[in-house]
Amino acid sequence: MTQEEALDILKLGHNIFLTGPPGSGKTFLLNKYIDYLRKHYKGVAVTASTGIAATHMNGVTVHSWSGLGLKEKLTEQDLKKLLKKSYLRKRFKDTNVLIIDEISMLHAFQFDLINQICQAFKNNSEPFGGMQIVCSGDLFQLPPVQKEGEARFVTKSEIWKSMDMKICYLEEQHRQEDGELLSLLNYIRNNAVKEARELLIASACEKNTFSITPTKLYTHNVDVDAINHFELDKIEAQEFVYPMQTEGNKDIVAVLKKGCLAPERLALKQDAKVMFVKNNFDKGYVNGTLGKVIGFDEENLPIIETLRGKRIVATPASWTIEEDGVVKAEINQIPLRLAWAITVHKSQGMNLEAAEIDLSKSFVEGMGYVALSRLRQLSGLKLMGINDLSFLVKGEVLELDKNLKQMSQKAAEEIRKMKIWQKKKRQGQFLHSLPRVRESSELKNHIRGIEPTKWRPAYNVEEIRKKYPKAYREWSQEEETILRREYSGFIKKAAEVLERKPGAIRSRLKKLFHKESI
Ligand SMILES: Nc1ncnc2c1ncn2[C@@H]1O[C@H](COP(=O)(O)OP(=O)(O)OP(=O)(O)O)[C@@H](O)[C@H]1O
Ligand SMILES: [Mg+2]
Repeated sequence: MTQEEALDILKLGHNIFLTGPPGSGKTFLLNKYIDYLRKHYKGVAVTASTGIAATHMNGVTVHSWSGLGLKEKLTEQDLKKLLKKSYLRKRFKDTNVLIIDEISMLHAFQFDLINQICQAFKNNSEPFGGMQIVCSGDLFQLPPVQKEGEARFVTKSEIWKSMDMKICYLEEQHRQEDGELLSLLNYIRNNAVKEARELLIASACEKNTFSITPTKLYTHNVDVDAINHFELDKIEAQEFVYPMQTEGNKDIVAVLKKGCLAPERLALKQDAKVMFVKNNFDKGYVNGTLGKVIGFDEENLPIIETLRGKRIVATPASWTIEEDGVVKAEINQIPLRLAWAITVHKSQGMNLEAAEIDLSKSFVEGMGYVALSRLRQLSGLKLMGINDLSFLVKGEVLELDKNLKQMSQKAAEEIRKMKIWQKKKRQGQFLHSLPRVRESSELKNHIRGIEPTKWRPAYNVEEIRKKYPKAYREWSQEEETILRREYSGFIKKAAEVLERKPGAIRSRLKKLFHKESI
């Protein structure tokens, strides 16, 4: 079905499984739906199964949002503890739509546990406590990470059967611009491994060269680490080393270290490519934000420029395990890791211009499909190696895919048959059935999954407001529109008066004033 039809179905309030090939615009469409809900002040939680995937929508992992974390089961005691957390209570109270992207990598058991948490907080035995659930992903891509045995997709969870899911299968293609790469991906999706290999051999893509530095995708963390250290060694600049600080029970510290993506010994140099591995909305980064070290401050802390051009001084963060409100163990580290190379798992959901991909140690179905489908065209690929598993997809998915397509066809016919006034009426009814979220940023933050920070800023807004009642008040949409309009008017006028291009005025202003403010 088309994106437009899928958006119409989403707005009706059904539980949805939004699926379709890589590049069909699943994440793009989720963002549209999120905008629509936010525009009407409705509480929507934006999450994904991995940190990087969540960054494509400015969200967080569903594990962190729901309070599940790394737990593999939930005891009565665990649930009670979660229910005591007031920030989680507020978050669930104000959330009525839960979005989970890259659902293929979420375990069935995790989906069931999250459902249990939602039901407990909402005190409602309907699936996910009655919230609208929008799962998005493609089962041909990577399954959940599992050391032994077969991992189970969410479609095999207990709760899935009772969710009355509508299937929206997107069929457009917006990422791949090149027929050759599309044929290759279609061969893989249709289990035509021989044809896929032949096409790759004929394309001689191992000889491709690029004008930009390609992202390196590897299947294993050890290879990714080796490449990153190799790249760091190549930089001739002073190395700054940050050892992890640990405190508390040794065994619990070991568990923390295992779950934490920041290394025990973080070595950085100017120009190193890095990725943040924790959420900090106040500072403007989340788990998965990519950037580059552009220098070190007077305390030798790294200054990072993110891909979006934001400058952030990376200060140490802490990871703790608490029991009955008492911290049992704590580790402290700068929340960064090197990122010249990343694993194929972390790349799922990304768009890449150029990539060097090594699939010679693929260990699960879907790996080659995910890695290759990040690209726009075959000329952006340098393939370093493949193995027998690289282009395989899971047999169960081939079967399931036929059903999904049929169910989507049915949903598309239903929406096409619906009269426009009828559709608008039902969409309006659903929208109005959702409570309006108050507009303070604090409220929006807790829905987005931002944990309350332990420390307070150095200034006290309440105190300042006694003297200046309007200090730090939020900017309304209207005020921002006025500011933008006036500002662009000013640039236009300055360009005319000084007989220069608006771009030249803008860059001069950047030079004269602080860069971030222009
Ligand atoms: N309707 C559209 N108009 C313009 N650009 C679009 C549209 N839909 C998608 N795109 C662009 O196409 C690219 C791929 O879209 P997107 O990342 O949403 O695909 P996806 O289905 O989520 O893929 P994946 O399965 O890899 O996560 C993105 O750059 C996105 O901005
Ligand atoms: Mg996506």
